[in-house]
Formats: sequence, C-alpha cells, structure tokens
Amino acid sequence: MDFDVKDPNLAQAGRYKIEWAEQEMPVLKAIRERFAKEQPLKGLRVSACLHVTSETAALMRTLQAGGADIVLSASNPLSTQDEVAASLVANDEIPVYAIKGEDNATYYKHLNAALDHHPQITMDDGCDLVSVLHKERKGQIKEVLCGTEETTTGVIRLRAMAKDKALKFPVLAVNDSMTKHYFDNRYGTGQSTLDGVIRASNILLAGRTVVVSGYGWCGRGVASRARGLGAHVIVTEVDPMKALEALMDGYQIMPLKEAAPKGDVFITVTGDKNVIDGEHMRVMKDGALISNSGHFNAEINIPALEKLSRGAPRQVRPFVQQYSLKSGRKINLLGEGRLINLAAAEGHPAAVMDMSFANQALGAEFMLKNYKGMKPNVYTIPEDVDREIARLKLESLGCKIDTLTEEQAAYLASWEEGT
Ligand code: ADE
Repeated sequence: MDFDVKDPNLAQAGRYKIEWAEQEMPVLKAIRERFAKEQPLKGLRVSACLHVTSETAALMRTLQAGGADIVLSASNPLSTQDEVAASLVANDEIPVYAIKGEDNATYYKHLNAALDHHPQITMDDGCDLVSVLHKERKGQIKEVLCGTEETTTGVIRLRAMAKDKALKFPVLAVNDSMTKHYFDNRYGTGQSTLDGVIRASNILLAGRTVVVSGYGWCGRGVASRARGLGAHVIVTEVDPMKALEALMDGYQIMPLKEAAPKGDVFITVTGDKNVIDGEHMRVMKDGALISNSGHFNAEINIPALEKLSRGAPRQVRPFVQQYSLKSGRKINLLGEGRLINLAAAEGHPAAVMDMSFANQALGAEFMLKNYKGMKPNVYTIPEDVDREIARLKLESLGCKIDTLTEEQAAYLASWEEGT
C-alpha cells in the first residue's frame, strides 16, 4: 500500500486519539453500525481531501465500514495530526497522504496522489481536490459520479464553478446543512479558534481588545467566545445586515482601519483575501497578535507584512513568527496566517464534528442514490435528514423534547382561525 505520512511509529498514539474522539461521536457511530450492515458504499472509490484529524479518522472508518475504498489527503499543509495519519495507515489500511508542515509542492503532490485513486466520489474541504481535477486532470472527470464539500469557502468556489458552467458533476454542500453551520461554524470555530490563539501565545484575553473580522457563523462564534473570556470585542464587517446584528449582539462596530490601532489580537474569519492589509498593520500597536481562522491563508496580506518589516521574522514560539517593522514596532503572526484552530490547536471538538461528519456520511449515501437525476450543480441535504441528525444528537445527549399535539399540528397547517 502506498502512503506518505510523517512517521508510521506514531500509530499507537493516533489510535488512542481516534478512540478518544469516537467516544464523543455517537451519531456517526450509529451511522457506522448501519453502514456496516447495509454496505451502501460497497466497492466505491472515494478520494477525501480533509483536515487529517482524529474526527476525520472517525469519518474515514465509517465510510470504510460502509464498503468504500478510500484514500485521504490533507486539505491544508498545517492541519494534519501526524499520529492520526499513521494510525489510519497502520490500523485501518487507509492510504493517507498528509504531513503536518508540508510545503505547497508536497501538498499538491498529495492531492494528486488522492486523485491517482480515480475517485467515483470526491469528498473535499475547501474545493482544492475538485479544482485540481477540473483544471489539471480533466480526463478523469467522467469517472466521478458525485462529490461532497465540507466548508463555506469550498461551497463559494463550487457555486462560482457552477455559475461559469465549469463544474462537471453534482456536489453536496455539507456546509449548508443546519446541523453543520449552526454548530460547527459557530461553536466549533468559536471554541477552537480561541484555543489556537491561546495555545500559540498563552496570553490573557481578559481586558484585551480582540478584533474579529467577519460576522458570519464563524465570526459570531469567535466573538462570543472572546467576550466570554473577558475580552473587549470589536467586530468589522462589510455586510450591513451582519454589522447590525453584531451591533445588537453588543459588540463595537467600526472599519478595520479604525480598529487597527485599538486591537491587541486580530482574528479574520471572512473567507476573503487581504482583509488585514499593509495599511492596517502599519498602524497596529507594538506587539499586536494577528491570526486567521478562515479556510485559506489569504486573509492576512503576509507579503505586505514582509515589506513593512526589517529582515526575516523570528520564530519566538511554536506558531508565532515575530516581525520587526521598520517603524520599530513588532507584529506577531500566528500559525503562518493559516487556520489557527487547526494549526496551533486540534480543530473543532469531536462532539461538533459528529454532526458535520454525519452529514458527510449521509450526504455521500444520498448523492449516490440520487446523482443520476442531478445536474452538475451544488445541492443541499434534504431537510428531513438534517433534522434526523439533530434528533439523534439530542437523543445522544439524553435530551428529550416535546411533540406537537394533533390539535397543534392541525392549527399550524390551517389558515381559518384568527383573533
Ligand atoms: N475542521 C475544523 N475542525 C476539524 C476537525 N476537528 N476535523 C476535521 N475538520 C475540521
């Protein structure tokens, strides 16, 4: 079996990590048990390009239980947990191509190794796999039946491809499920981003000013967790609706240019590029920390930071590069501007990935049953599947809820009764 991981001897540590995560993933466990019996993915070649974490390992083991023939590559050069990669290879016989800290050339070599598997289903996080397939390996596209996409950034890219008529097979936007973005993007990104900032810097957030750029589901989570730790939070936005919501949620709103000299910690979660630019970094406080939790490392203009600096940065702690500006000030870049929650911490906790990856597993099953009637476009999981995931999650948490009486259900379906 071909693979490329850092060190196969890490497999036992990876196994413990995966077991630890799986305890927190009861919905995925129930799916895995059914998949083992029903074999809905029997013999299908799946190429997955996901963050190689213990939670992703639980998903890979679920797909494998359902009969899939899987290969996994990293979806970011810095997010791989090397021990998990080793365990999947040694204990589950899943070929993995992922090494934490790999350079860009190795990252793309690994993506291509996943495509050498000739997938019938693609499972992507950020759309790099699908993008390479459509740009560089067109001859293989006809072999693909359907795909799934995990994240906001990937879904945005896919919709752009569909609009340009460039997309050649149907893809399920897992991110559009309510049981994904309400929970993973908000509570997962919220907690794990602060975890990453703290693990990298060990700074006290209480009393500090944290500037959060972007108030989508991820931004909401990050801002609320920063406030929970006692920070004074400023939100920057370009969308008036989101800015208004942030204002009424109790945050200060202002343009980033105004926030730049006020902030101690900056966190971008916009999905766009050059959000923190040279003009902002030039006026930041001495010692400011800048970080990104969006999918790509494009949100902070690192070349502009380099231009403002005197010489190369110093690696003052793991995941902290300190730039000395020509002005005499210092700026600390966390996690090379890559998603800080996976670079310096362990990504979202398993309890939330349980729902995201239940959507991936059920989404793959759904697409496989339905792809023949679908156009090359972006699809959403049916609402009843989404609600069933929520129901199973609640049940696993020992939480019961009310049901409508017949009278109440009839009332909601009628229009005659009024005041
Ligand atoms: N994205 C964010 N957190 C993650 C995790 N723990 N595993 C896989 N993908 C993730």
